[in-house]
Amino acid sequence: MGSAPTIAFRLRGVLIRFAVLASGSGSNLQAIIDAAEPEVQLVSVVSDNPTAAALARAEGAGIPTAVIEWDGDRSRFTERVCDTAVESGAEALILAGFMRILAPAAIELFPSRILNIHPSLLPSFPGARAVEAALAAGVRITGVTVHFVDDRVDHGPIIAQRCVEVVAGDSVELLHRRIQLVEHSIYPEVVGAVARNRIRVVEGKVIWS
Ligand code: GRF
Repeated sequence: MGSAPTIAFRLRGVLIRFAVLASGSGSNLQAIIDAAEPEVQLVSVVSDNPTAAALARAEGAGIPTAVIEWDGDRSRFTERVCDTAVESGAEALILAGFMRILAPAAIELFPSRILNIHPSLLPSFPGARAVEAALAAGVRITGVTVHFVDDRVDHGPIIAQRCVEVVAGDSVELLHRRIQLVEHSIYPEVVGAVARNRIRVVEGKVIWS
């Protein structure tokens, strides 16, 4: 990808081919598979983790998988991930618990076409320990954010957010479990809306139609 490649997106208005990037259990991947939105075509699941349960979920759904292990070089890793996604026919990426940060070349290749889900109400609590940080801060309400990825971590135009209340006696595990229930409905909805071309970014803000 060193030569600044571009992709002519074959946006047919009502169908987008997505590659899902996942490092872990893949429950969000499963929710998107189970939603079976007709406009959403999952063409591949790419993981940096050979033992990710997400890979088994993909295989169970007949989705081709690939493992690209982190080799310490962000540019090269990003290039390999993007090449794999593009070769599978992907026009957009869904980050679903993908624990690696992609280099900016990925955003150039998929402009406003990389989705991420984060377990807090961004811009509060970015980072890998969002649920823990929300609990430690003593907030009474946290939640879920789905956004387009830009060149900053857990940042970019916000597509959808939903609240989750923090209750007395919550632990990181209990709160994350309730957050994940919300994730499993909001992510398929947003992916479906993107595939139906209902979401535009204008001057850095998302507009739904
Ligand atoms: C989710 O909580 C998501 O918000 C965060 O990573 C977790 C992935 O969970 N980015 P799963 O692998 O989809 O179960």
